[in-house]
Amino acid sequence: MSESLQIELTAKLADAGKDDIVAFCVFADAPRLSEFDGADQIAALLTETEFAGDDDTSRLVHQTSSGTLGRRIALIGCGDHADAGRHTLHRAAGTAVRVARGAQTGRLLFVMPAGHESTDDLAAAVEGAVMGVYENNFYKKAEGKQPRLDGMTIVTANPEAADVVRTATIVGESANWTRHQADEPGASLPPQEFARRAATMAAEFGLIVESLDSDEIQKRGMGGLWGVGKGSEELPALIVLRYEPETAPADDELLAFVGKGITFDTGGISIKHGLDMWEMKSDMTGGATVLGAMRAIAQLKPDRRVIGIVPAAENMPSGKSIKPGDIIRSLAGFTVEVIDTDAEGRLVLLDGIAYAKELGATRIVDLATLTGSIIVALGTVRTGLFSTNDEWAAAVTAASERAGEKVWRMPVNDDYKKRIESDIADFKNYGGRPDATGAALLLSKFAGDTPWVHLDIAGTAWYDERRSYAPKGASGLSVRTLVNLACD
Ligand code: BES
Ligand code: MN
Ligand code: ZN
Repeated sequence: MSESLQIELTAKLADAGKDDIVAFCVFADAPRLSEFDGADQIAALLTETEFAGDDDTSRLVHQTSSGTLGRRIALIGCGDHADAGRHTLHRAAGTAVRVARGAQTGRLLFVMPAGHESTDDLAAAVEGAVMGVYENNFYKKAEGKQPRLDGMTIVTANPEAADVVRTATIVGESANWTRHQADEPGASLPPQEFARRAATMAAEFGLIVESLDSDEIQKRGMGGLWGVGKGSEELPALIVLRYEPETAPADDELLAFVGKGITFDTGGISIKHGLDMWEMKSDMTGGATVLGAMRAIAQLKPDRRVIGIVPAAENMPSGKSIKPGDIIRSLAGFTVEVIDTDAEGRLVLLDGIAYAKELGATRIVDLATLTGSIIVALGTVRTGLFSTNDEWAAAVTAASERAGEKVWRMPVNDDYKKRIESDIADFKNYGGRPDATGAALLLSKFAGDTPWVHLDIAGTAWYDERRSYAPKGASGLSVRTLVNLACD
């Protein structure tokens, strides 16, 4: 687990000590520095350093004569203000924290930019700061200078909003929990270990555990999850965590989050070839996102029942593996012809979705690193959102916008039905590339009439290279979207 960060709020920028750093947001198209004391000094610094304020950049400046702003000043590039949003503050605070930690800092004073005085903006900064602390070097021997940051003070027009800090810290720490699971190698986190970690976390925060082992998975007829899981020495698991507040009536709505939990995806018998197979250790990020969101929800205690379901399996080639052409019988009763064993995510998810409905889910969001095609379509900037229910799609989109986690709606309807039509079974799991839409269409058949949103996070779950606000690896994105949905 990553270190924690103590964050305080203040209305006025106080003098910084020599061990401290003061951080300012710099926008490429507008300085926006007029509202605080010392703005002149920063304006002069910008001219001197020629810092352009590009997104994902920063500059640490050592002042020889310590002005009123202190000796060390961090300029944080935020890109054009015209494009600024929650994600800008999230990244800026994360970048400031990483600069400060790298430079061995006592206190980081982070000045909120002018015009960003809302509590949502403050929450975005706090979440970003907490997520900026995350490191995935937990298998490295600690040597040399270790990063250090003793505390952070945010200079804001909302200095009384301690509850915002508390909430956003919980959410940020939970997103870091998710990242830690996603960054684990496949060998360290097979399905049953994933289930054990979920149970440990659930015990810590008071969630109910109703997970199923592989015998129960078979007995209940979850042929999709069992079909994928049976090829591995590591047995599959169905992780189920329940948040059940005393105040919510039992017949109330049940919000279900279902996350793909493939702890390693080799492709199975339809084995993958590319060089980047190692990244498939993160093919359980949808599941880790669901569990991370449950971790936050358990602490924030909304007045609504929520269930998190993670069908977890390892997709391996072996003498026991499912083969192309095999047919699985799913929990919902539909049969699916397996054209390609590398299209395994949808096979485990369709049972997860059916199980959510069996447990009484009235609204469903599933998350999965499901297809390479969504990366071709949307790159690594936006998550693909698929839904057959406009109202529920709008609610999830609103929650994602509040979180600063961008989504883009994609089509899912019978225009694409040839992709999932089988000659000998109810459906097939693959009908040729691009197949983000085909995969979503297959899942929609299992959601049926229940309001359902599918988030294909294959492009947004993972940073391919280091960012100023994050190491290369798991991004922790989408946790905040789920938490907003459950808590608003
Ligand atoms: N887990 C992958 C999708 C993926 C690819 C996630 C790259 C993150 C980065 C999924 O199980 C998969 O293998 N999809 C294939 C399906 C196809 C071969 C049937 C794909 O999209 O290429
Ligand atoms: Mn696959
Ligand atoms: Zn996969």
